[in-house]
Amino acid sequence: MNPDDFTFVARLLKDRVGLLLTRDKSYLVQNRLAGLLRAHGLANTGELVAALRKGDDGLATDVVDAMMSRDTAFFRDWKPFKHLSNVVLPNLRAARAAKRQLRILSMGCSTGQEAYSVAMQVIEEAESFAGWQVEIVGLDVSPAAIAIAERGLYNQFEVQRGLPIRSLLRHFTREGENWRIKDDLKRLVSFRAGNVLADIYPLGRFDVILCRNLLIGFDQQTKLEVLQKLSRSLNDDGMLYVGVDESLTGVSGSFAPVLPNIGVYGAQTTSLAAARAIAVARSG
Ligand SMILES: C[S@@+](CC[C@H](N)C(=O)[O-])C[C@H]1O[C@@H](n2cnc3c(N)ncnc32)[C@H](O)[C@@H]1O
Repeated sequence: MNPDDFTFVARLLKDRVGLLLTRDKSYLVQNRLAGLLRAHGLANTGELVAALRKGDDGLATDVVDAMMSRDTAFFRDWKPFKHLSNVVLPNLRAARAAKRQLRILSMGCSTGQEAYSVAMQVIEEAESFAGWQVEIVGLDVSPAAIAIAERGLYNQFEVQRGLPIRSLLRHFTREGENWRIKDDLKRLVSFRAGNVLADIYPLGRFDVILCRNLLIGFDQQTKLEVLQKLSRSLNDDGMLYVGVDESLTGVSGSFAPVLPNIGVYGAQTTSLAAARAIAVARSG
């Protein structure tokens, strides 16, 4: 790929989704775009970039989609989900007892497994949340990923990745070779296409935001900006989850570490951070 074309694609990704593409990733661009070239009948990346330069917006969306990792799994990394169900949901249940409203955002939800995992945890506490208005929103910049999430149909490989058999049997029905999410679970979750760089604030405030394995591809400045946006969308006593391998060192600004080794952060308010630390210690 010639350097000018590489620079053009890199700028497209940075501007549209915040993804940082360094020159050593040239092979990756080549590999990930190979299928797209075939699908669009283009001979090489030079032809592709020429079409992009003419302003083909649909093609630009496809390029961004092809370049991003959508890797995900039900209950990915497990420990953050354990923390959510053992500590955060009980705390929020007590704190919101009067309002009876719970809002959770899965930012960069990919094909939906993360949002549905949270919904399974809420449904398993159905009695405690009886009469509550629970809303779980999944947002992703990839319309293709959102379409899969909305369908709620997963193959055997996908359900085998992280989903306990008990949860599979309780929350899915068999459909041929695949497994479909049951309606009671689906009703708790809504999905929409959206960009963390732009679209989260109008969604209102959330009690929990999961933004896991998304920031990893961003430069420090973009991470900082996104974290500021997320902090404005999180209630003061809410909780942020980032990926277990993502460090917020130097960019956490608006957030205080709660259990950073599993990616858990709270709002940067000393008293709240202290209260959370006590809650975490009590949970053992
Ligand atoms: C590696 S997946 C992680 C999925 C899930 N959060 C998890 O941890 O399993 C990253 C997702 O972030 C999405 N993404 C990347 N940049 C984004 C942006 N600027 N706005 C919204 N979603 C974005 C990608 O489309 C992809 O589906």
